[in-house]
Amino acid sequence: MRRIALINQKGGVGKTTLTTNLGHALALAGQRVTVIDLDPQGQLASSYGLFRAPRKGIDQVLLQQQGITDVRQGIRDLLTLIPAGEKLQEIEYLQDGGATRARLLQQGLQGMSADQDFVLFDCPPSAGLLVANAIFAADEALIPLCADHMSLNGLIIMLKTLKKFEPYLSKPLTQWIALNRFFPRRKLSKDIAEKLHNHFPEQLLEIPIREAAAIAECPGVGRTIFEYKPNSQSAKEFKALADLLMNSAPALS
Ligand SMILES: Nc1ncnc2c1ncn2[C@@H]1O[C@H](COP(=O)(O)OP(=O)(O)OP(=O)(O)O)[C@@H](O)[C@H]1O
Ligand SMILES: [Mg+2]
Repeated sequence: MRRIALINQKGGVGKTTLTTNLGHALALAGQRVTVIDLDPQGQLASSYGLFRAPRKGIDQVLLQQQGITDVRQGIRDLLTLIPAGEKLQEIEYLQDGGATRARLLQQGLQGMSADQDFVLFDCPPSAGLLVANAIFAADEALIPLCADHMSLNGLIIMLKTLKKFEPYLSKPLTQWIALNRFFPRRKLSKDIAEKLHNHFPEQLLEIPIREAAAIAECPGVGRTIFEYKPNSQSAKEFKALADLLMNSAPALS
């Protein structure tokens, strides 16, 4: 089972978009996938068409030690959602528990049967306790990035944040970088892609997701790109990115 945190403290880079569409792409490729919404904004559920926010979700697992199987729901073939739940924000204010506060998710996932191939965590745009929980529970981090200078600076900060966790992890997270909101004809996009290619050859997943109106329209209709525009360039890109991810398993240690 591969546990991948989609993580970037910068907002609006595509964490939720990639979780939604990669999750579905992997499921369409025959993988058993669970997507977990760790963002109190709770947008993952609506991205899949659940417009009435589920009241209970991963918040119950983290705050009430409820079993993870009680709060999951099948949303597509082979695809299971664990929504945020209305109390998720409270985890950021937990005072008790010391270091174990950051390991609640890791503990909660132990109750999950090992019959899943991928677990994707959609993280909030912060570096707080929810993200710390994702880092401890995951084996891999996928950092979505826009092709601009601010995002590049954000990446450096994100990598430093991940580095700070390393002494406390049993093994370092395998890191992936995915370019999103890419403009193939824009010089800046190409320059940033080249920089990433040169500096992070191992981490960069070389299938950029282009900026596309269809991708932006998907959450409004509660459908993934494979349902909304199955023959689009964007659907092809997400399928290719999912295939690349499936073939980029971290080395076993
Ligand atoms: N490739 C793309 N083309 C067009 N629009 C996109 C693309 N990727 C994301 N978007 C849009 O950009 C906005 C931000 O994306 P998204 O919500 O996935 O980012 P996020 O990193 O999850 O944000 P947050 O940090 O707030 O959780 C959304 O409206 C989404 O539909
Ligand atoms: Mg998001």
